[in-house]
Parts: sequence; C-alpha cells; structure tokens
Amino acid sequence: MEQHTSLDDKLDFSISELSIDEREQEKLGNLLLLLKYKHLPTLYHSLRVAERGKRFAQALGLNPKPAWYAGNLHDIGNMLIEKEILDKSEGINKLDLERIHMHPVYGYYLLRDLFPFSAEIVLRHHTHQRNPYPISFPEQKAKFSEKALNQATKYSAIIALAEFCDSIYFGKRDSPKKEPSQRSVRYRLIENFPKQERDIRRLYKEGLLSKN
Ligand SMILES: [Fe+2]
Ligand SMILES: [Fe+2]
Repeated sequence: MEQHTSLDDKLDFSISELSIDEREQEKLGNLLLLLKYKHLPTLYHSLRVAERGKRFAQALGLNPKPAWYAGNLHDIGNMLIEKEILDKSEGINKLDLERIHMHPVYGYYLLRDLFPFSAEIVLRHHTHQRNPYPISFPEQKAKFSEKALNQATKYSAIIALAEFCDSIYFGKRDSPKKEPSQRSVRYRLIENFPKQERDIRRLYKEGLLSKN
C-alpha cells in the first residue's frame, strides 16, 4: 500500500513536471485503470518503469516525455494475456513463453490509434536483448518517417534498460529481494545490453541505477 501511495505521488508529480494536459491524462489514466484490474503487479512495474525511463532520458539528454509515456504503457499488451500465465512465477513452459512474447505486438495494436508514437516504442522494447522479440513487425499503420522510427528505437532501448533494472530490484512478481549493489546492476545491464554500455555507465555515474 505504501508503495502504491508513493507511486501515485510520483505519477502526479510527473504529470505536472511534463505538463500532461487533461485529455491526455484521461486517455492514459483509463488504460492504466484497465491494467490495474487485469494485473496489479504489471501496473506497479509500469509506473516504476515510467519514472525510471523519464530519469534515464533526462540524464541522456533526451526528451523525457516519450520515455515516460512509453514506460507507463510498455506492458499494456499484458491486457490480452491470460492472468494465470501472468501470475506464474515458476513452471513457465514453452507455450506460456510464446504467449508472453506476444505482449509487445498486442501493445502495439492496443495503442496505435491512441498513442501512435508510444505504440512504436512499445513494439520495440524487447528487441535489444539477447533473445529479441518480436522477430517481424506488424504492417505499419501510422506512417512515421524513418527518422521518427529511429527515435522510437532509441526510446525503446531506454525502456528496455529501465524495465530490466526494475526486474532486478523487484522481480517478476513484485516480490522483495535482497538488494543488489548498483555496481552489480551495472554489470548485469552491460552483460545483457552490451551495445548500450556507454549509456549504462553514464546512468550509473548519475546514480540512476539505484532501487528507487
Ligand atoms: Fe515487456
Ligand atoms: Fe516490463
């Protein structure tokens, strides 16, 4: 509960810091509300990834807004995945994994009319890891320029780092874990995202790899 309250406060703070207007707040709020009732751990994880993504983007000299939006929405595709699968912490089989790996594409379809640029980021947020997915992208509906799509890829890499960092500290099911040192978090991030080593070192220097 305490965690929820502080996440609410952070959400309010970001809304005013990033000047999110009322209409956008309503659109985003409604999607997050659906996620709340579908799978609460995914909502908490998403709010934390949004905050971390925002700070990562700021530290790397990028606009924090797209990172914040996409962070909030990056796992919205879980809306279309069976709750029993989302709740599994062990015994995840090949079929479950196939379902889970659909979440970026599901997220893309859920978002592309409401938040088209976030949809592009969400689609790519698992393409930076060692076993990337999805392998092929759905046909583009919104016609973004190549430059814009490169930007979406850049933001999706930030979300990937924020998501991985969050899963180190909080685990898949939000279970409290013994807290690792920031140095070991940096090591694990570089190991998993070698192409982003420079950014990871920068984030470490800024003290942004901490738990909160
Ligand atoms: Fe994800
Ligand atoms: Fe995630």
